[in-house]
Amino acid sequence: MKLAILKERHPGETRVAASPDMVKKLVGMGLEVTVETGSGVASGVSDAAFSDAGASIAADPGQTLSNAAVVMKVRRPVVEGEGETDELALIPDGALLIGLINPLGDPGQFQAYAAKRLTVLAMELVPRISRAQSMDALSSQANLAGYKSVLDACIYYKRAMPLMMTAAGTLAPAKVLILGAGVAGLQAIATARRLGAVVTASDVRPAVKEQVESLGANFLEVEGAVDAETAGGYAKEMDDDYKRRQAQAVHDALKKSDICITTAQILGRPSPKLITAAMVHDMKPGSVIVDLAAEGGGNCELTQVDQVVVTEGVTIVGFANVAARMATDASSLYARNLLNLVQPFIDKESGDLALDFEDEVIAGACAMRAGELVHPMLTKKEG
Ligand code: NAI
Repeated sequence: MKLAILKERHPGETRVAASPDMVKKLVGMGLEVTVETGSGVASGVSDAAFSDAGASIAADPGQTLSNAAVVMKVRRPVVEGEGETDELALIPDGALLIGLINPLGDPGQFQAYAAKRLTVLAMELVPRISRAQSMDALSSQANLAGYKSVLDACIYYKRAMPLMMTAAGTLAPAKVLILGAGVAGLQAIATARRLGAVVTASDVRPAVKEQVESLGANFLEVEGAVDAETAGGYAKEMDDDYKRRQAQAVHDALKKSDICITTAQILGRPSPKLITAAMVHDMKPGSVIVDLAAEGGGNCELTQVDQVVVTEGVTIVGFANVAARMATDASSLYARNLLNLVQPFIDKESGDLALDFEDEVIAGACAMRAGELVHPMLTKKEG
């Protein structure tokens, strides 16, 4: 059975859906893995490293995808009009496509997949259950983004993070506010703490208070933060009364903060606006906001995707796809997520991958089966 790994062609996408380690394991289980030449260049992995791991290196996308039964990607395949290569046209009919395809934000893509009778596993839809933690690509990528957000903040912040006692005087530690203490937020807390900052964090899910405090940060309480968690571990959209109280607490905290990192997202919905222009106006000049939710519309009203803007002395960093800026680690963790997802379904005798669609994780991640949309979030347009 042939598994194809393509070079990513979306602008700014530096990751690749494979690592030499993952290729070696798949080849060891009997799969034939073909990697398009140059796939790992942007993430620091050479063709030779993939080839040494047992992959065949193909010269172009056509050769890579020819007769492939499984296609692993980071982003959805590019189509006609999006560049020189129409990847989708080259994917064999009936193939299994696995990737971070943005199924809820980009549902139009499924029409073309239906015509090709593809089966599609969306990594974003992997259920958030304990057993699936090692397959959770949103977590593996958010973790790295959380770390990187603090480093980005440091670059634009013109002062030191830790308390520094020097012969010329003492510098106060930076005050960092983190909005959204999920995977990215918790990693941002840990990173900012390691750098010596004084950290406060807030989240609609009060259950995270203990985790925030265990990392040495203060938890910003907002009255009424109950039942904000869905069975899947995600945050629900909050009512207007709560939003008002939260806005007041955030506004007060921002006035005292030097750096704010926002990570609040709601699956399949635009990011909640937590920082208004008026709040930015009240921040100290020289403060920095890093908006990790920029791609979903941003948590700050003034965020501009993939730009760094300065308003009244406050720098607002809105990089999209932050994990891609740590492409080597991001690719290797993502490849491990993919491997963990499919490994249980590979027949060690034949080397064939036969998914069990009754399996909770596969059923949860399956957006389309043989050309038919099957995921309830896509068929009913609701969570
Ligand atoms: P996310 O990326 O969807 O959201 C980030 C954070 O923002 C979340 O903590 C969310 O509660 C918070 N948030 C949303 N709206 C907000 C608002 N208006 N104000 C303030 N905060 C807001 O979430 P993430 O980080 O992907 O995961 C959330 C939780 O899901 C994790 O902390 C964990 O408990 C659970 N989880 C479970 C997994 C598993 O068991 N396999 C894997 C990953 C996460």
